[in-house]
Amino acid sequence: MMNDPSAAGPGATAVAHPNIALVKYWGKRDETLALPVTGSLSVTLDVLPTTTRVTLIPGATRDVVVLNGEPVGAGRVGGFLDLVRALAGRGERALVESDNQVPTGAGLASSAAGFAALAAAATAAYGLDLGGRELSRLARRGSGSACRSVFGGFVQWHAGSGGGHAGDLSSYAESVPVGALDPALVVAVTDTGAKAVPSRDAMRRTVATSPLYEAWARTCEKDLARMRDALVHGDITAVGAITEGNALCMHAVMLAARPAVRYLSGASLAILDAVAALRADGVPAYATVDAGPNVVVLCSRGDAARVAAVLRAAWPVRSIHVAGPGPGVTVEGGAGR
Ligand code: DP6
Repeated sequence: MMNDPSAAGPGATAVAHPNIALVKYWGKRDETLALPVTGSLSVTLDVLPTTTRVTLIPGATRDVVVLNGEPVGAGRVGGFLDLVRALAGRGERALVESDNQVPTGAGLASSAAGFAALAAAATAAYGLDLGGRELSRLARRGSGSACRSVFGGFVQWHAGSGGGHAGDLSSYAESVPVGALDPALVVAVTDTGAKAVPSRDAMRRTVATSPLYEAWARTCEKDLARMRDALVHGDITAVGAITEGNALCMHAVMLAARPAVRYLSGASLAILDAVAALRADGVPAYATVDAGPNVVVLCSRGDAARVAAVLRAAWPVRSIHVAGPGPGVTVEGGAGR
């Protein structure tokens, strides 16, 4: 039935891009609602998009998910579609076809672009017309960081306050004001394999066992305020210094979990050294690392080619992508955000 186009109902296609957090999200206060302990701030990239088409299949008894041409279990996607169906008051199952250029599971925010695109395509397919804030809150339920990929450029996810409905209503992302800044983000992919500990489990373990967790949460609140200030002033050196400090603090809080969570690899450390050497040479370049070994370097656009060459020399990287700030999620035929 899935291959019979006459059986297909309404559908919609959406495109979203990954985001890289400059002030990271690492820990939930409510797992079911995906409410974070702290706010976070990211930049949405203009490379490695995810394109997702959702087609309703009237009469089908289950959702079917095809990722990069391969059928996969419906898993988290099916659970997310249940949320959309509940909002829309409809019951049809769907075919979800997603093409994802981000190496899945390697700590390059594949779930952020994935769930932002899915939220936009699924709501359009089920006939919902959500505003940006509502779409962001919904995308958050798929994967926390996805709420930020709903918007383009620099984006803050507010932790919100309280639990339950009040927490759900107050925890969303929105664009933040930025002064004159022409940043590049140089993404060095050293490893495309799936990570040893899924970030969701690692996050839970860190909150539950790391003796440094409270200090991390306090640091994020301070870094957020300082980051907003540095962005408004277009101060790339301050933006970079806060970014690198925050990322290393996140890895420190993970390393202190019991058992430890370690995503930094030899490649990550070699690249961190190369970035420090660039700074010693007068190039404002700063590194950040998510829940995986791959390093992203923030620098001025004019320095991006030099930074990419230095990273290539530091480690036999698999690929390098030079990104800039990119757009929010778009639905085919609809307006961007
Ligand atoms: C290290 O958003 O993937 O990239 O909410 O459990 O799906 P879940 O986690 P996810 O975690 C992202 C963690 C991070 C930091 C960040 O993007 O802020």
